[in-house]
Amino acid sequence: MSSPREEPPLVIGITGASGAPIALRVLETLAKTDVPVALVVSDGGETVLREECGKYARDLEELVDRVYDDGDFTARIASGSTPTRGMAIVPCSANTLGKIAHGLADTLITRSAHVHLKEHRPLVLVPRETPLSVFTLRNMTLLAEAGGILLMAAPPYYLKVTTVDGLVDYLAGKVLDHLGVPHQLYRGWKAEDPDG
Ligand SMILES: Cc1cc2nc3c(=O)[nH]c(=O)nc-3n(C[C@H](O)[C@H](O)[C@H](O)COP(=O)(O)O)c2cc1C
Repeated sequence: MSSPREEPPLVIGITGASGAPIALRVLETLAKTDVPVALVVSDGGETVLREECGKYARDLEELVDRVYDDGDFTARIASGSTPTRGMAIVPCSANTLGKIAHGLADTLITRSAHVHLKEHRPLVLVPRETPLSVFTLRNMTLLAEAGGILLMAAPPYYLKVTTVDGLVDYLAGKVLDHLGVPHQLYRGWKAEDPDG
């Protein structure tokens, strides 16, 4: 993609939970828009990305404006004085979720998430884990109380999505809904016309 743009970026973090195809769909969709994207992939995220999508973080460079190393605290998105449009951590591991919930900021992803919460900007977290431990349940509550949006990677059975690809579209669309990015990844539920 072309050189970095001046508009505030959307920050996308990929961590080591199952669900890397959702992140890929979010990035592919954003690449067709004018929204600049800053991407950070944790080591765990890279492992799962390879496992589930057969890709490395470097393969995603062409889809985004900027890729930061997860240990790079000099990155602009580590600072609250850098405006952003919001952040999604997709998928979000229980590990990363727990760290953010407790104010830890020892990676660029957790630091940038901390910044989004303290600056009251949108932060969408997409956990996949099931069943949930009492730790993760409490951590999710803490994050919701702090303003985070917990968007479980859960299927919408009422939409009659019949393929994994359709589910990935739906979940990627839900992430973009919460970040205010228009898309055509899924159509919401509509009651059937009893006369139709
Ligand atoms: C194939 C694979 C799937 C995984 N799925 C999950 C998952 O769904 N949820 C989760 O919390 N951790 C999952 N893990 C474990 C995390 O990757 C691990 O806890 C890692 O330390 C997370 O690091 P990060 O938070 O820095 O990305 C998975 C690991 C592998 C290798």
